[in-house]
Amino acid sequence: MTKKLIVGNWKMNGSLADNAALLGAVREGCAGGAAADLAFCASAPYLAQLQSLLCGSRIDWGAQDCSAHAAGAYTGEVSAAMLRDFGCRYVIVGHSERRQYHHESDDLVALKAQRALAAGVTPIVCVGETLADREAGRTEFVVKRQLSAVIHAVGHCSSEIVVAYEPVWAIGTGRTASPEQAQAVHVVLRAQLRAASVNTSHNRILYGGSMNAGNAAELLAQPDIDGGLIGGASLKAADFLQILASCPVEAARG
Ligand code: PGA
Repeated sequence: MTKKLIVGNWKMNGSLADNAALLGAVREGCAGGAAADLAFCASAPYLAQLQSLLCGSRIDWGAQDCSAHAAGAYTGEVSAAMLRDFGCRYVIVGHSERRQYHHESDDLVALKAQRALAAGVTPIVCVGETLADREAGRTEFVVKRQLSAVIHAVGHCSSEIVVAYEPVWAIGTGRTASPEQAQAVHVVLRAQLRAASVNTSHNRILYGGSMNAGNAAELLAQPDIDGGLIGGASLKAADFLQILASCPVEAARG
């Protein structure tokens, strides 16, 4: 039985005023209880704000990246231990925007996941194929290669990671993977985690890529979709709350 996890990825959006208003509305909206666990991942300067606004609430928070180094002369970098200092439960690693715009390799992403775990922060490891990969029939190969680098680096701690399947062609495009397409990839990823880890009962595999209030219920009804990583729709409280409300209370997995 897996409780769903809904994570908002604000990307490079937000301001002190906007964040406070959004979080206030979400807190109010789920004051009576939420069917899922939830978290927001913000840009590093706002983590102190999230810590002060969300500490003691049912909402967790996290960052969108961390350094592959533990500490030292790496100007501009933010270490996983620093994220822990600000109460982060999660850090997104290997988002396709970082793989694409910052040329992050599978091995670098794996190192980041390792650093996060060592600091007590749960990495949300993003994997996903481009449209060209999908059209060439390489989806499974690509996502397995991306996940395998992380599994190899973190070893028996693989049971501690969260995985997010985010087809690159669906991110911010309004084009969502169909529930069947997403479920099929989640099954592949789950099998890979199972083969690698002693205990994968903790692993949650999220879907990300234009998930919104209109399509969330269908996606979240899939047996191997354990939640969502939500970009655009996490910036509007009403949409985010609607996605949260779309979660079945508990999902049984066969
Ligand atoms: P989107 O972004 O929901 O805006 O497509 C998802 C993500 O990039 O995590």
